[in-house]
Amino acid sequence: MTKNVLAIVGSLRAGSVNRATARAAAALAPDDVSLTILPIADVPLYNGDVEDRGLPESVVALHEAVSSADGVIFFTPEYNSSLPAVTKNIIDWLSRPPHALQATPVAAVATTPGGRAGAGVLGHLEPILDHMQGVVRFDSHGIGGYPGKLDEDGELADPDTRAELAAWLGRFAESLDAA
Ligand SMILES: Cc1cc2nc3c(=O)[nH]c(=O)nc-3n(C[C@H](O)[C@H](O)[C@H](O)COP(=O)(O)O)c2cc1C
Repeated sequence: MTKNVLAIVGSLRAGSVNRATARAAAALAPDDVSLTILPIADVPLYNGDVEDRGLPESVVALHEAVSSADGVIFFTPEYNSSLPAVTKNIIDWLSRPPHALQATPVAAVATTPGGRAGAGVLGHLEPILDHMQGVVRFDSHGIGGYPGKLDEDGELADPDTRAELAAWLGRFAESLDAA
């Protein structure tokens, strides 16, 4: 049966490298995995007053997409050795009722320009995910030195990087069977 995996990209810019990695992941995922990038540009900053008035449509859509997914992958940039607000904001909404993450396998992939391959953001993101109700966290994957790994269209083209991503996706997909 096809496994439905949701990709959440923690960057809003059109030329996002992390979105390019998510696109590559959609193409490289095993045949029995359907990986879909969820649009999140309309999700507002978390505000308890907004929540009390009733969840915005975009937040309802976020919860519904996550609750029907077999797994979730955050494709996140690293900002100042940590999480960008976009990634954290999605996590904050998901940590609130209706608690869409129910024993859901979740993982993170960081693509950065430097050689540390997202060690800063992943080192902060992992304990946050571990703290979230309903999350079964899978090992993270980091891609560093991206400027040399993209083609002229901004797509992830480096063969070794694509092979490593495909292998990681295979392991993540296997973990969905065990979940
Ligand atoms: C505010 C800010 C802080 C950043 N801090 C880091 C950092 O700590 N480590 C790093 O590798 N890259 C850092 N960068 C560079 C980003 O990794 C780079 O801009 C990346 O392309 C952003 O991801 P995106 O292409 O998916 O938007 C930073 C960029 C911005 C805008």
